[in-house]
Amino acid sequence: MKKKIFAISILFLIIFPSRIRADEGMWIPMLIEKYNIRLMQEKGFKLSAEDIYSVNKACMKDAVLLFGGGCTGEIISGQGLLITNHHCGRGNIQQLSSLEHDYIANGYWALSQGEELPCPGLSITILKRMEDVTEKVLSGVNDNTPAEDRQTIISSNIAKVQSDAVAGTHYRASVRPFFMGNQYFLFVNETFRDVRFVGAPPATIGNFGSETDNWIWPRHTGDFSLFRIYADKSNNPSDFSKENVPYKPAYFFPISLKGVKEGDFTMVFGYPGSTVEYVPSYYIDMVSNYINPKIIDIRTRKIEIMEAAMNTDPLIRLQYFVKKSGIANSWKKWQGEILGLKKMGTIGKKQQYEEKFTQWVDSDQSRREKYANLLPLYRDLYSKMKTYRLVSDYTSEVFSGAEVFRIAKSMGSLAALYSENASSEEIGKAKDNLVAFANGFFKNYNAIVDRKLFEAVMTMYGENIETQWLVPEYLSYKNRVKGNFSGSAEKLFARSPFTDENKFKEYVKGFNKSAASKLKNDLFYSLASASENFINEKVSGELMKMNIQVQELNRLYMRAQMEFEPEKAFYPDANLTLRVAYGNVSGYKAKDAVLYENSTTLNGIMEKDNPEIIDYDVPDKLKELWKNKDYGRYAENGDVHVCFIANNHTTGGNSGSPVINAEGQLIGVNFDRAWEGVASDMQYNPGQSRNISLDIRYALFIIDKFAGAGYLLDEMKLIQ
Ligand code: ARG
Ligand code: GLU
Repeated sequence: MKKKIFAISILFLIIFPSRIRADEGMWIPMLIEKYNIRLMQEKGFKLSAEDIYSVNKACMKDAVLLFGGGCTGEIISGQGLLITNHHCGRGNIQQLSSLEHDYIANGYWALSQGEELPCPGLSITILKRMEDVTEKVLSGVNDNTPAEDRQTIISSNIAKVQSDAVAGTHYRASVRPFFMGNQYFLFVNETFRDVRFVGAPPATIGNFGSETDNWIWPRHTGDFSLFRIYADKSNNPSDFSKENVPYKPAYFFPISLKGVKEGDFTMVFGYPGSTVEYVPSYYIDMVSNYINPKIIDIRTRKIEIMEAAMNTDPLIRLQYFVKKSGIANSWKKWQGEILGLKKMGTIGKKQQYEEKFTQWVDSDQSRREKYANLLPLYRDLYSKMKTYRLVSDYTSEVFSGAEVFRIAKSMGSLAALYSENASSEEIGKAKDNLVAFANGFFKNYNAIVDRKLFEAVMTMYGENIETQWLVPEYLSYKNRVKGNFSGSAEKLFARSPFTDENKFKEYVKGFNKSAASKLKNDLFYSLASASENFINEKVSGELMKMNIQVQELNRLYMRAQMEFEPEKAFYPDANLTLRVAYGNVSGYKAKDAVLYENSTTLNGIMEKDNPEIIDYDVPDKLKELWKNKDYGRYAENGDVHVCFIANNHTTGGNSGSPVINAEGQLIGVNFDRAWEGVASDMQYNPGQSRNISLDIRYALFIIDKFAGAGYLLDEMKLIQ
């Protein structure tokens, strides 16, 4: 027996030489059997590829879901109960909240299914099956097909594959490009629309450490929330209805109470959003040296303004909590990414690689014909593209920076109805829609905060973008007020119908033909629509053309790289499709003389406790549990473990992903990455790229001991 294993692994070494040791990669579930399972088993995994992905039997994939549009979640009971991150459910939780029922600040626990709160607009998608459809999608195109024709043929092939795949079912199909359009996969999904909020801890647990600790290890955030999927009586998706019943999944994850130790196998199964591992040095240079530093600066200012206001008033805190975390999250990641790329010398490494690649191309006539132009074309494109990208990204940061632009612009379609001589019925309907929009909008709006944001973005816009790329209406406004945006803003905000809920509703009600003709004179409206037109006319078209060229180059460069390194195990960039990452629990060396352990505990939470700072203000109830060591079955060595790290390759979208042990049991919920390794979207760093997971026992402890919602545990399958 031993001999056989030895023989197999020798064979394996020969066939997959560089696949050994790779923790890097986000792999395709249906290809695990072919490419990954042996290495996974070598790393400790005890199950088979069929246990992860199968179309013949219930398996893990039936319990992993896309939560909303950009997070992952997993089913943990036979009654459709799911767990995801607190920060993934946050938008929905906030929507259900008010100052009287602030579920962000205080948390919420449905004490029976009847108390679960419907979340309008929230959907859950579960993969039924996937299939390699490359041949069908590329039928009718070859290397000589002109780019435009290629796109048209591919689009029509895709449309056909998609509609064939789901004909006569309620499923939805989507075909997605992999390896930069060298391969295509079909995904057949089932989407559920009745999803209800079951429970979440208060932000002082679910967002403990907030922005200060975000992207940072050691971490102590109880980043989870619970929802439930409902279906109709036949277990099919349905809009919200009182008649609906909890969804009965084909599979749900058993939960391990055993915890983790250094070196344990871990696997993350979820929906990573986007990575760029195979791009040329020019791209990295554009993003990390040119665009992101400027976007970081303007966001720094926005965040300062929001934070200052949030610290003065609990209502503003609730109103701006989600907005601020949205802006702050990428803002902080980009900073870590820039540092990581510098430290790894990614641009230099890519340049060396490109030199070797060029030598390889030059040494062969047929390669020269196919690939000799690639890198020079990239260089020229990116040197032009960086201006367009900056103008486009920065302008959008500016005009999304103050919300008054958004509300002003919302009037555009109503005004248009008057010039189209629309019926009074249509006009009435448009007005009702605006009033409904205002109800949601103003709930989270504070005019003083917005005015400060307006002043800041107006100032920074002029300072950071070259004059020729500034919206002309902005320039004339700036001249008119002699650059004194704050003086002008005060008056504008006081007078405007767009900065106050009642004024806005009155304005909408009384809106008529004459108001419609005057709308274009409103400064907020005119800036908002002028900026949109300016970008559409001067920037987007060019950018789109360049993007198409880049896509074409990417496809060829990807293919060329695979030919250049035939031994290398390539995994496709993340594209918000279901992937498997695997590795081991692992501490790391953060910097000179600093070694990080792989897990954190409740004792560590108490070390961070600081009632003066809201983000570190440990709730009394938790302190009491800690004082009494009232940990039940969730303790390990007299403490409750809170988070742990492993070297799974993950990215945004993997939030909420199940973290699974060698036996296929749930041990954690992925929610972040550690600072020193966040450049892994561009270059994975084996020594420092770490994903951060919530230890599932901490979630259970909070549900049971902190919230007294232990009845929820009865429907889970806990394994001692
Ligand atoms: N950094 C994690 C992720 O990328 C957690 C984000 C939670 N949001 C926050 N602003 N703290 O999404
Ligand atoms: N927090 C991220 C998310 O929302 C996951 C962290 C990461 O980018 O790896 O998906």
